[in-house]
Amino acid sequence: MPHFLDINKTDPAALRQMIDIARQLKDARDGQPKAAPDAEQPLAGRMVALIFEKPSTRTRVSFDVGARQMGGQTMVLSGADMQLGHGETIADTARVLSRYVDMIMIRTFEEATLLEMAEHSSVPVINGLTNRSHPCQIMADILTYEEHRGPIKGRKVVWSGDGNNVFASFAQAAGRFGFDLTFTGPAPLDPEMAFVEEARAAGARVEIERDPAKAVAGADLVVTDTWVSMHDPQSARERRHNQLRGYQVNAALMAHAKPDALFMHCLPAHRDDEATSEVMDGPRSVIFDEAENRLHAQKAIMRWCLGT
Ligand code: CP
Ligand code: NVA
Repeated sequence: MPHFLDINKTDPAALRQMIDIARQLKDARDGQPKAAPDAEQPLAGRMVALIFEKPSTRTRVSFDVGARQMGGQTMVLSGADMQLGHGETIADTARVLSRYVDMIMIRTFEEATLLEMAEHSSVPVINGLTNRSHPCQIMADILTYEEHRGPIKGRKVVWSGDGNNVFASFAQAAGRFGFDLTFTGPAPLDPEMAFVEEARAAGARVEIERDPAKAVAGADLVVTDTWVSMHDPQSARERRHNQLRGYQVNAALMAHAKPDALFMHCLPAHRDDEATSEVMDGPRSVIFDEAENRLHAQKAIMRWCLGT
């Protein structure tokens, strides 16, 4: 079953093909991401369930619009309103949904929920973010980097901030797409070492550098994300802000990167915390291209899952 659960669980050739198809799908729309149906309707007659146990703007809207552009239909389900949120098992939910729909996208907390859904589903399951990873985001980010700067292979990507779920998917992608990755952040917020070691085992150069200025030196791409993720307790907010303040992406930090370095943030952002508005709205920022590219990347992912 071609589930899209994580970058490191997907064949590198398939990932490359998805990025290339996403680019073709984008080019075919000729700068009109919102325009009505695609010429090809590879999801005609297909129903996609989009389950959210956490808030979402981009994932929700881009999957919904993308499926519809390809002729599919969607239903957006809140986990809290389903029996899933009231004690029905994930396995039973997966078996039931598989009788009604052709594909399931789920945004949830525990990775185990996603994996159990996939194990018991007879239709493809897509990871729309868990506490541990966010693979669809990184597919959009690679598409974004490559459309601006060409192949990401061999480039230096620097992550400044919290070693969170989005970083984890970047680490998985470093191994799959062959770019170098430097993490800079405070030791208590280091990523899980398993992600770093796996990327290294896959041949990627992954470094941890506490000094953000040193880390960013020679970067082709600088990335950050919120300092407090949806699964982090709000009680940790002040501590995290204190730990991460020195890792803000601002003009002074970007000055250490290559002159043509890009800036990315998956959004939603807390402006002037993890990144200044000057950087977010500056000439090197591609944050809204990333957001648009969720649409194109996920259309390619959905087609791959359904073999259409
Ligand atoms: N980047 C991202 O996944 O955004 P949403 O939380 O709005 O879906
Ligand atoms: N790290 C963030 C990403 C949001 C898209 C979170 O998990 O809340």
